[in-house]
Amino acid sequence: MGEIVVKDLNKVWGIDTPDEVLTLDHINLTVRPGEFLVIIGPSGCGKSTLLNMMAGLDTPTSGLLLHNGQPVSGPSPDRSLIFQQPSLLPWQSLIDNVAFGLTLKGISRKERYRRAQQYLRNVGLHGFANKYPHQLSGGMQQRASIARALCLGTDILLMDEPFAALDVQTRFKMQEFLLEIWQGSGKTVVFVTHHIDEAIFLADRVVILTSRPGRILDVVDIDMARPRNVASSSFEHHRSIFVNHLRSEVTKAFEQQELVEMFDTSIK
Ligand SMILES: Nc1ncnc2c1ncn2[C@@H]1O[C@H](COP(=O)(O)OP(=O)(O)O)[C@@H](O)[C@H]1O
Ligand SMILES: [Mg+2]
Repeated sequence: MGEIVVKDLNKVWGIDTPDEVLTLDHINLTVRPGEFLVIIGPSGCGKSTLLNMMAGLDTPTSGLLLHNGQPVSGPSPDRSLIFQQPSLLPWQSLIDNVAFGLTLKGISRKERYRRAQQYLRNVGLHGFANKYPHQLSGGMQQRASIARALCLGTDILLMDEPFAALDVQTRFKMQEFLLEIWQGSGKTVVFVTHHIDEAIFLADRVVILTSRPGRILDVVDIDMARPRNVASSSFEHHRSIFVNHLRSEVTKAFEQQELVEMFDTSIK
């Protein structure tokens, strides 16, 4: 079961310094077990900050973060964070990378390899077990990162713009692939993006954040059957809701950046 509860969470960076900045403002959110939740918002609104806190890599300034009712107090194998850049160990073969977490759990080499092979097969990489990360494309490396998380038995996949560095064709393939892996797995996914179509294609629900400080602007249910057709009228209906919401937020985010830049030049 993978439920995350975020209660009245605030995050201030650089507290008590001249650079103090409120980044997340009173976030209240329940990520339901097994759901595919997407968080969307303009650049700099605090998406990565929120995801890192869910992973236990950072702490809120105030408020609560619970995973299955327990406070999040540090990283856990039950919550895997997957970044834009694949984070495989370059000196280890694919199978060793995927089995890596099991080494830490003290599981025998034979059993580690058996399980890792199974997950490599699930992500379509079983022929590549002895290859090294640099021998694989970006999409294959991201599939291996997902296999590593699943092999570890993670409950919740926290994904921070994981397909943003991929070309458009690979990105589409990876979105379909991720849905295949997720459907029927019972895993909870929290997926950050700033792409409207990616959000609508993937999500059960989309949380829209405002420009900094990040607040929840809206939570939208995407009640369309999968696989979703990006050219359908219901897809277009959702797209227009998001475009309207995000257009003003992106403008605000730009204005903030311009203000910062103007301020920077004036003090030089
Ligand atoms: N470690 C940090 N120290 C200080 N400020 C930070 C740190 N990480 C992020 N920030 C600031 O928090 C804001 C939100 O950043 P981030 O969460 O990366 O946004 P997003 O992922 O939505 O683009 C930005 O203004 C950024 O400069
Ligand atoms: Mg980010």
